[in-house]
Amino acid sequence: MRTTINQIKEMKQKGEKITMLTAYDYAMAKIVDEVGIPLILVGDSLGMVVMGYESTIPVTMDDMLHHTKAVVRGTKQAMVIGDMPFMTYHISVDDALKNAARFIQEGGAQAVKLEGGITVAEKVRRIVECGIPVMGHIGLTPQSIYQFGGFKVQGKTPEAAAKLLNDAQALEEAGAFAIVLETVPAPLAALITQRVSIPTIGIGAGIGCDGQVQVINDILGSFTDFIPKHAKQYARLTDIIRVAVTEYHNEVKTGSFPTNEQSFSMDESILAELTK
Ligand code: KIV
Repeated sequence: MRTTINQIKEMKQKGEKITMLTAYDYAMAKIVDEVGIPLILVGDSLGMVVMGYESTIPVTMDDMLHHTKAVVRGTKQAMVIGDMPFMTYHISVDDALKNAARFIQEGGAQAVKLEGGITVAEKVRRIVECGIPVMGHIGLTPQSIYQFGGFKVQGKTPEAAAKLLNDAQALEEAGAFAIVLETVPAPLAALITQRVSIPTIGIGAGIGCDGQVQVINDILGSFTDFIPKHAKQYARLTDIIRVAVTEYHNEVKTGSFPTNEQSFSMDESILAELTK
């Protein structure tokens, strides 16, 4: 049985920290699942770290479903959360329900995430009423990057801080099972965490959140176009990959790869027949 929303809510009650990590493909998801991370987000960040776009805006439902299916195939225990892309839940409740359902029915995910607070609360309520768990996401919501004018810390003025608190409470009332707080001052994230009964999962929101989420390519050092301040590199995969690819390239050019070890033999007499 995969991680359930009740188990995640209980972790907050017990004061047990919650780990969430993104994954976008079968092989990586398998490792994350085997480590025992309970929440795997197929984030629309894949638009940037996998597809090379400048933002998450161009990501489509088809892109998300393609990657969600791969992650689901690689996992047995984690709850897989599909990230609803830009404009797939904004236009109408019908759209939101239809697209959330696609993540569950076609993608095989167990929950969806969408960005926004009060403005999306009605959609969250309706999706939850249909039996689909929803994770909220407030603060620096990357789908609104043009509105914010860049990747900037949110909630720094009294009005903006109060709005974030209201957004979190609206998501809780609408039935969200958890809320991502992205790039929010740590003391504000800690206050929001105290004021809502559902878990908060921070990214650039300090230690006071109930859990943490990171983009896997950031912590592995496999995407280095830019390194966000909130990310810690636990490895530098680009360096390791560069060494391995260079060695392979050199060995092919010099004829030292492949050797007999990577080759297949055949019955000499068959060959002799062919060359007679
Ligand atoms: O798309 C994503 O990876 C996200 C996380 C950063 C929370 O939304």
